[in-house]
Order: sequence, then structure tokens, then C-alpha cells
Amino acid sequence: MQHLTTNTDIRQHINTPLEEKRQGEVFELEQPMVADNGKKFYIESYGCQMNFNDSEVVAAILTKGGFGVTKDYEQADLILLNTCSIRDKAEQRIRNRLRTLQTVKKERPEALIGVLGCMAERLKKKLLEEEQIVDIVVGPDAYRDLPNLVVEAEGGQRAVNVLLSREETYGEINPIRLNSNGVTAFISIMRGCDNMCSFCVVPFTRGRERSRNAYSIVAEATDLVNRGFKEVTLLGQNVDSYKWKNPETNQVVNFAELLEMVALVSPQLRVRFSTSHPKDMTDEVLYMIAKYENICKYIHLPVQSGSSRILKKMNRTYDRAWYEERVAAIRRIIPDCAISTDIIAGFCSETEEDHQETIRLMNDVKYEMAYMFWYSERPGTLAARRYEDDVPLKVKKRRLQEIINLENDHSLERNQKDVGKIHKVLIEKTSKRSDADLCGRNDQNKMVIFPREDYQVGEYVNVLVESCSSASLKGKVVGYA
Ligand code: SAH
Ligand code: SF4
Ligand code: F3S
Repeated sequence: MQHLTTNTDIRQHINTPLEEKRQGEVFELEQPMVADNGKKFYIESYGCQMNFNDSEVVAAILTKGGFGVTKDYEQADLILLNTCSIRDKAEQRIRNRLRTLQTVKKERPEALIGVLGCMAERLKKKLLEEEQIVDIVVGPDAYRDLPNLVVEAEGGQRAVNVLLSREETYGEINPIRLNSNGVTAFISIMRGCDNMCSFCVVPFTRGRERSRNAYSIVAEATDLVNRGFKEVTLLGQNVDSYKWKNPETNQVVNFAELLEMVALVSPQLRVRFSTSHPKDMTDEVLYMIAKYENICKYIHLPVQSGSSRILKKMNRTYDRAWYEERVAAIRRIIPDCAISTDIIAGFCSETEEDHQETIRLMNDVKYEMAYMFWYSERPGTLAARRYEDDVPLKVKKRRLQEIINLENDHSLERNQKDVGKIHKVLIEKTSKRSDADLCGRNDQNKMVIFPREDYQVGEYVNVLVESCSSASLKGKVVGYA
């Protein structure tokens, strides 16, 4: 059984007898029957981790429909692009990719090209008008219909299904892991988003928020453990608002409780999650992270801006003080927790003073890591309808560069504090730079690189860190963890 923290201060905050909740619930995941139809599909994924995980659900649906998978699109009867719309650049990348696929269509007109995901949902039928080589357009909630749409397209019709659903979670589908290292896997715990951040296209492309059956999530984690996986990342646009009501018992499972259920699957299984929304991240969740050794001490907590005025315009529903209080709570409850963030530079009406507020916030928090972007207006969003995109591109880019430079300093400063210490690392793969090295992440999600020796992917090792850059730690193994 899981080692429990005995700190009474921590335990008294947890009043959820989850072991009780787990009893008697067995969830059967669907295993795809392999009935070969002689055809192969190829899938390429863009965007967030959820989209990559969706491609694995699509792979399960198509396999069940008799398709085989190929890593070479030249060999594929069905070429799928699972797309992202988050920024204009993301969509341009897909448009360019479709250009390069034109040659395939010329050489093999019978090969079908399908566009899946957020761009399919955003543009719907229009995509067929704009991109002549596309045969199939499928939104994120319509993947079960894919085998039918393929049949339609084979019959010469261009096929579209972009219906959004209030219920679809693909709960019982066991994803087929694509490009897997056999060690780490994603598990989607919810879909959609009900927050209307004014800059964001996701609520339009993914629909309403809904949570997946908690027992199907535990079943998926258990299946992964049985197959030798060592780490799962629970995914949602706003995991802290996870709430699943058991229709039979009316019992409600919240995110803290779900974390515990997954942590109890095996003490050898690391549990990560993303993304936390500052407005919903509760102390209950923080105490749960502190309670279990195998829940990783790492929180991605996107701030977007350090200016309360801009946050209000972004409709993030928290202000700077609220955010800083949440960071203080993390530091208080999980002292060794790493925090990363997302920042947007140059949102509508952002002044130099607003930008300096972001810089000041960064100096206060000193994030381990950050994803940083300049604001890209998205058609149909609240910001596009209501506010002028009035910060010149040159200014957006300059502010973004200042933010990136500062973040690099902070990441380096944080990493330097790890030098000379021993870190427990789960080995994930061969290092990109050298075949002689392996790499994996520590609890705080930092990449650690070390000489291979005789160690194997999937093992937990203790690494003494001897040097670092702003992006990673370097060291040598001092034994198994
Ligand atoms: N659900 C997550 C974010 C998902 S999108 C959350 O709320 O934190 C990932 C990141 O992309 C966002 O956090 C934001 O920083 C960035 N982003 C979203 N829309 C954007 C836009 N229109 N322009 C630039 N960056 C954007
Ligand atoms: Fe977009 Fe906001 Fe939802 Fe994140 S929480 S997906 S930024 S609307
Ligand atoms: Fe992109 Fe859709 Fe994810 S817009 S970031 S793929 S939810």
C-alpha cells in the first residue's frame, strides 16, 4: 500500500474515505477487436497534450473498425491531421502541411485526407471549400463516427461531422498508445471548457466541460500499470473543476479525490496532471499532493498576465492578489513544489505599466518554467468581438522577448539550486544530444540527463546532479531509487 504521510496537520484536511469509494466498482475498458480491413491510417498530431491523447482514442476507434496503423503517410489509405487552433500560427502550420500533402493526392487520388480536432471544429464545412484536398472534417466529439465518414468519403462524398456533445468522454475506450516509450502515458479526465477566457478559442472548438467516469480513469491507469507503464498525466483544460457524479449512487468525486484514487493504483506509478486554473485550485488538492509520495510535486499554473486590469479583460476571474495567494498556498503546503506558467504578451490595451506588472510578478514567483506567447487574435472570441487588438506586433514581440529572457534567468537560478543534490528520476528515453546518455524527469518535472551505463528506460534511479543549464540538469546515477 501507499506510504502515507503521518503529519496530522496534513491528514486533518482530508476527509475523503476513498478506499471505500473504490470498493465494488470494476470498470471494463473496451479492447479493440482486430478485424483487418486491409487498410492503413496515418495520424499526425498538433497542439496540446489532450489533442495528442485524442489521436490515441482515434487510433483505438479506427483499429476497432479494422484499420491498421502506419508511421509512413506514403503507405496510408487514410491520412489524418489532428489540428490545433489556439493561435493563428498553429493554423498556418496545418495549412502548410496540407500543401505538402497535395503531391500525395496527385499520385494516389484514392488516398483520403481527413482534418480532425480544433481547426476542423472551428472552420467546419468552410474547411472543405478552402482546402480542396480535404475529404473528411471531424470535430473532437465526433470521432466515433469516423469509420462511417470514411465509408462516405470512399463513396466519393466529402464527409463532415462537427457536432459537439455535452456527454461524450470516450470513457470506455482504451486509447492505443502512439509513439509510446512504454513508460509515460496521458489520461484525459475531462473534455471541453466552460471558462470564457476572452482570448481563447478552446470553448468554441471543444464545447462544454464534462468529466469522465472516475472508475474508467482508474481502470485505464490500472491497465497501464499492468503493461509496465510508470507514469500517467491526468489531462483537462481545467483539472481542478473535475466533478463526476456516479449516476447509480449519486456520489460525487472531485479532483482531489480522483488524484487519490489514481495515486492508490500503485505506489510505483507517478501521477502528474495538467492544467490547473488558479481560480479553482483548492487547498484540498494541495494537501492531497503533499499526502502521496507518488503524486508529483509540480503544478502548471497559468497566470497569463501580472496586471489585474488585464486579467479582468481576459476574463480570468482572478486578480493578481488571488494568484499570489494561491502561489503562497502551494509554497506553504508543498514546500518543494515546482511551479510553471503560461504568459501572454501584448493582450488588447496592454500598456508598458501592465507589462511591467507581469515582469514584477515573474520576479516575485520565479517560475521553474514557462510557456510564453504573444497575443494572437482568434475569430469569434470575446476579445475579438469586444476589444481592439491594438498593441503593435513589434511591441508584442519585444515584450515577449523580455519575458523570455527573464524566464531563462529564473529557470537557470532555480536549476542551480538543484546542483549537488540527489534526485529520483524515472528514465524515459535516450538523450537527444547523445546516444551515450539517458534522460528522464525528476519529481519537479525537470529533465535530468546522465550517462547510460547499464540503466534501462522505465527504471527509477537516483541521480546526483553536477551541473545545469536553464533547460535541464546533468549528473550521474548513484543507485536505484
Ligand atoms: N486551459 C489552459 C490553457 C490552454 S491553452 C488554461 O486555462 O490555463 C494554452 C495556453 O495558450 C494558454 O494558457 C495561453 O497562455 C495561450 N493562449 C491561448 N489563447 C491564446 C491566444 N489567442 N494568443 C496567444 N496565446 C494564447
Ligand atoms: Fe481557454 Fe481559459 Fe478554458 Fe484555458 S480555461 S482552455 S485559457 S477558456
Ligand atoms: Fe489547440 Fe485545441 Fe488543444 S486549440 S491547444 S488542440 S484544445
